[in-house]
Amino acid sequence: MRHKRELLIVAKSWAETRTPLSNRLNGLLWPRYAGIAPFLMTGDKSLMNFASDNATGASPKVLKAITEANEGAALPYGSDPWSARATAALAAIFERDCEVFLVASGTAANALALASISPPWGAIFCHADAHVADDECGAPEFYSGGAKLVGIQGTRGKIPMQGLAAALKAYPRGLVKQVQPSALSLTQATEAGTVYSLDEIRDLCEGAHAAGVRVHMDGARFANALVALGCSPAEMTWKAGVDVLSFGATKNGTLFCEAVVFFDRALAADFAFRRKRAGHTLSKGRYLGAQMLAYLDGGHWLDLATHANAMAKRLADRLGHVPGVRLPWAPQINEVFPVIPRRAEAPLRAAGARFYDWGGRGLAPGEDLAADEMQLRLVTSFMTTQAEIDDLVRILAAA
Ligand SMILES: Cc1ncc(COP(=O)(O)O)c(C=O)c1O
Repeated sequence: MRHKRELLIVAKSWAETRTPLSNRLNGLLWPRYAGIAPFLMTGDKSLMNFASDNATGASPKVLKAITEANEGAALPYGSDPWSARATAALAAIFERDCEVFLVASGTAANALALASISPPWGAIFCHADAHVADDECGAPEFYSGGAKLVGIQGTRGKIPMQGLAAALKAYPRGLVKQVQPSALSLTQATEAGTVYSLDEIRDLCEGAHAAGVRVHMDGARFANALVALGCSPAEMTWKAGVDVLSFGATKNGTLFCEAVVFFDRALAADFAFRRKRAGHTLSKGRYLGAQMLAYLDGGHWLDLATHANAMAKRLADRLGHVPGVRLPWAPQINEVFPVIPRRAEAPLRAAGARFYDWGGRGLAPGEDLAADEMQLRLVTSFMTTQAEIDDLVRILAAA
């Protein structure tokens, strides 16, 4: 009993640090649940979110579509009209017949896609800092039944051609004591907010295919990369040699909806079973379909990404004028990685700014951090306002 009470106190004080005053006052009406009445809570509007594009809400257009899809009954498990139309919409965007599967998270999309192109004894080549290697709790290894992720080093988050060639050489085909080259996973845009050019994608895909290796693209920030390159979705994927894509949408406006898109239908033969077995075949699948449809409708996804990228550019331009701040590379999408004086961190956090310490990842030799410097990852989103950017830069300049 005492234990239960202590737990409630911890939960209450945790919630109070995260909820605005209005919600804490609401708690007075329900004293037992002060600060944790979920139906009365809002996101914290006093926070300046530069931590992640996952910390934003969803696009109002997507939310409206979910509400509209709530009318009447629809067959479950993706056999609904919304999912069918979302599949057709994606095929139209990619200008080809393809197999599409909707899932609720990027980790599921990546891990299940990679499992489709790699046996348990496979080697999955990826960048050393890739989300699939660092941030998915071993899901690709788990769903593939044990494939090995082989990280390749490269500045600015990109796998260099020589790096891929060296990795392929290190894992010769047929050598029984080693895992066998199976998949290459390219993150577009990369973890460093850079974008592979079409030539770079083509070269890497050619190198992989020549070695019998299939290519996966982690497109968690697909729209941001596409807008940056100004090319077509087809050009950035299958026309350049990509076999299967994790088409991200959650960071850029859906509530929770991503798509696995197979450009080679044969590779998707078992996917329906993999997805179900993984618990990612949602019974009320119509809400996934409704999200994806609204996201794509009328180019909404591109408008959202265009805004997010423009905000990052504005932020970088402003930061470029702050003494003591340097930008090792210009942003291409909605992420900026400035090096700032370490003393500025505390005032920024005290003012409500949220961001990650990036620790110098992506820096080239010779750009190393000095002892009194730190590197931030600042992420903008479709919801970022000019005022938030100007506030952040003002606080930084005054620190
Ligand atoms: C490069 C990349 N891939 C995939 C994901 C998707 O992960 P999640 O499972 O959080 O949706 C993320 C999210 O942070 C990401 O940054």
